Amino acid sequence: MSMSFAMNVLETLALLFAFSVGTVVLIALILFVLDRRQTEDAIRRNYPVIGRFRHLFSTLGEFFRQYFFAMDREEMPFNRAQREWVKRAGEGQGNTVAFGSTRNLNVVGTPIFANAAFPPLDDHATHAKPLVIGPDCAHPFEAPSFFNISGMSYGAISKPAVTALSGGAAKAGIWLNTGEGGLSEFHLKGGCDIVFQIGTAKYGVRDEHGTLSPEKLRAVASHDAVRMFEIKLAQGAKPGKGGILPGAKVTPEIAKIRGIAEGADSLSPNRHPDVANWEDLIQMIQTIRDITGKPVGIKTVIGAELAMQEFFDCISRHGPQSAPDFITIDGGEGGTGAAPMPLIDLVGMSIREALPLVADLRDAAGLKDRIRLVASGKLVNPGDVAWALAAGADFVTSARGFMFSLGCIQALKCNKNTCPTGITTHDRRFQQGLVVEDKVERVAAYAKGIVKEVEVIAHSVGAAEPRGLTRTHVRLMTDSGRSIVMSELYPPTAPLSVAAQ
Ligand SMILES: Cc1cc2nc3c(=O)[nH]c(=O)nc-3n(C[C@H](O)[C@H](O)[C@H](O)COP(=O)(O)O)c2cc1C
Repeated sequence: MSMSFAMNVLETLALLFAFSVGTVVLIALILFVLDRRQTEDAIRRNYPVIGRFRHLFSTLGEFFRQYFFAMDREEMPFNRAQREWVKRAGEGQGNTVAFGSTRNLNVVGTPIFANAAFPPLDDHATHAKPLVIGPDCAHPFEAPSFFNISGMSYGAISKPAVTALSGGAAKAGIWLNTGEGGLSEFHLKGGCDIVFQIGTAKYGVRDEHGTLSPEKLRAVASHDAVRMFEIKLAQGAKPGKGGILPGAKVTPEIAKIRGIAEGADSLSPNRHPDVANWEDLIQMIQTIRDITGKPVGIKTVIGAELAMQEFFDCISRHGPQSAPDFITIDGGEGGTGAAPMPLIDLVGMSIREALPLVADLRDAAGLKDRIRLVASGKLVNPGDVAWALAAGADFVTSARGFMFSLGCIQALKCNKNTCPTGITTHDRRFQQGLVVEDKVERVAAYAKGIVKEVEVIAHSVGAAEPRGLTRTHVRLMTDSGRSIVMSELYPPTAPLSVAAQ
């Protein structure tokens, strides 16, 4: 009985095996014929069936590279060492490392901070103080922190992500920039300071014709939490191109906040239609400042020194009261939710070059105390932020640094509504992974971690506090293998004459 039962089982298994092998061979044969006959893919035509594995492995490589193959300092846009620093800071873990640096210090441009022979004793070191922006406005803003959150619109990032950023920003005493998608209840939820960005489509403050609505502007400014307004001319990842929010991410709520159609791609103009030159811009700054009574700045990417010189010349003609209260300089290496690859890769000066250039032009125009400089562009670790303060920035902002603190794994899917960490998707399945209460703590801890370690660098070079950092404290590696003091490489410049160019 038991013998015949065992034989039956064996026979069934043998049949199943033969059937499975037969099915696999049959499918392979069908795929072979399909691949040979199709015309659009040369690899599959020349190598039927096995050519399909190329696509599979390329896709899997995207996921596994960062775990198994890439070295600590290898990946782009951010390597593992940079991401891990943010993660540890966000978790409130001690950010010490062991044995020695894994950074190659011979790469041209690497900043090396010049340690002081006798740094201040710990009890003489001080913290960075708040700094006033727009002192002559009806409502100046005394910004508590030099490190803040850069613009990311509600739309590009999700409801829980905005809520967590807002709560974390309030906890750390830093500002949150809305990005160009308007002001939502989630920005306001945490009670942080807010910078309202006016993008080229003027989402949130536009009338039915798409032009600036004084009533809506007044309504936004009436929120105490809204401290400043930023006119976005351009962002580093896509200068000359407007915002791009794929239709899949335009939910009914986002459509309502922006004043656009649900489910349709949200494409903003490539520049403000009503700002064609510096004169127009100065006029717009003045209008917004008059209506809101709050500091007004601009955000741009630097393409040419001459253009910025013309801007400062224009301000000089109109007087310092006409100046923007701050200028945010975004580096060409800046991030985005979606942009064409040539723009993301190749258009716009790097922040490493643009920041000292604009700082020098501003100082030469005698506007150092009038216009605050805000810098962004892959400034996500303490060394980057300290470099920016030394180069001439008054403030530093980051977008992707804070995304990492929210749990971003650099899956590079921000444009697809399938972000696996729930940060840049409106799919609730993914959003449930982003637990706001936990991320609020991480956002705050990351911001505080940056401030603390920039203070450590400042004290090590002999500056009492971070804003005491200057170009004499930084050496930049050159291609000769020797480093050179930054103040020698970027000496302050005299104003350029427009006529002389
Ligand atoms: C998902 C995402 C959305 C963004 N949305 C905006 C935006 O609405 N307006 C803007 O001026 N910049 C936007 N940016 C650019 C950032 O504000 C910032 O300027 C740039 O990413 C550089 O900072 P980072 O290197 O720290 O990310 C966005 C960036 C990301 C990653």
